Amino acid sequence: MRSGPSRKSAYSRQCLVCKLPRRRQNTEAPLTRRALITGITGQDGSYLAEYLVDLGYEVWGLVRGQANPRVRHLRQLLGDVRLIRGDLLDQGSLIAAVERVQPDEVYNLAAISYVPMSWQQAELTGEVTGLGVLRVLEAIRVCSGISASRSPGRGQIRFYQASTSEMFGKARESPQNEQTAFHPRSPYGVAKVYGHFLTQNYRESYGMFAVSGIMFNHESPRRGAEFVTRKVSLGVAKIKLGYERQLRLGNLSASRDWGFAGDYVRAMQLMLAQDEPSDYVIGTGVTHSVETLVDVAFRTAGLDWHDHVVTDAAFIRPAEVDRLCADPSKARDELDWEPKMGFEELVSMMVDADLRLLADSGGIAGDSFGTDSW
Ligand code: GDD
Repeated sequence: MRSGPSRKSAYSRQCLVCKLPRRRQNTEAPLTRRALITGITGQDGSYLAEYLVDLGYEVWGLVRGQANPRVRHLRQLLGDVRLIRGDLLDQGSLIAAVERVQPDEVYNLAAISYVPMSWQQAELTGEVTGLGVLRVLEAIRVCSGISASRSPGRGQIRFYQASTSEMFGKARESPQNEQTAFHPRSPYGVAKVYGHFLTQNYRESYGMFAVSGIMFNHESPRRGAEFVTRKVSLGVAKIKLGYERQLRLGNLSASRDWGFAGDYVRAMQLMLAQDEPSDYVIGTGVTHSVETLVDVAFRTAGLDWHDHVVTDAAFIRPAEVDRLCADPSKARDELDWEPKMGFEELVSMMVDADLRLLADSGGIAGDSFGTDSW
């Protein structure tokens, strides 16, 4: 069912060293690759869209709902991106979107991704974060005309699934690599494990180029205010500017491997540019506690966190993931990927950005990009 043979040879026409598309030659048909991103209004979607546009991709974003307020925000940032309606809960809309866009690559970043919400709306989390992966894969399978097992994948649509370190949960070893067993600790983590194994299954069953990036926590000034890094950077900025006196947090002893989201979207594209599909752990290999995060953030603004942070049981989770740390050596060796931004630089960048944001807006943070939002 796919058309557009002029774009099918795009992968053999990339630079073998950097994996980026070769510049188009005048004598050749256009080689522009076309990407469809679900979750484009979220933090990762916006960074990925910017990155792919810079690489020369034609980028489409799937957006849901009638008057999605994040669309206006996205339009201001990324005028070049084309939008198409669709919903991870609606199989027909996904098939129609893939048919219309005829993508070379599909990045499934959409999810209900705020872990505490997955206890409050466990069924919806399963539908969107878990079964949503099935629906996207099915849309690709149907539109590619793959009906039998192990159909050859010529001219196939490449698929990226946003898997997560939350799948390791109560991790059995540290650091975690692609072979580490999963022990998810939340309905969100369980739903992501389903999507992860389903992606592997479609690769093995149908010969699809389908891969998962097992991404550790990745942050930026576009992060939703409910996640701890942004909650802290916004809290510090509010306290520094005199809008608040306290910041209420949950478990300060939890540790995460925090990197910069802008670095992580490069890895997504690299995974789809390989000759063979495979899954990769993406993280920095360095872990810090929430308490260290808080300390660095307050010090960036010349404050002492002990004067302002209050622990509040309302933010303690029913089951916690105590400590995560990535072993990203496979990504380093095979993708030549490394994070460029370290932890302290990331935290101070976020605090500085929120100080500017609040100073410019009179203390109103406005509608952020939110999570990798569905
Ligand atoms: N959100 C939040 N708010 N977390 C807090 C707070 C608080 O007030 N206080 C302490 N924490 C602790 C949490 O208990 C958790 O251990 C840690 O801070 C990080 O929480 P989040 O920033 O909410 O992120 P996450 O690790 O649960 O999940 C994020 O990263 C995953 C891995 O990339 C999300 O983005 C997931 O969708 C993603 O899969």
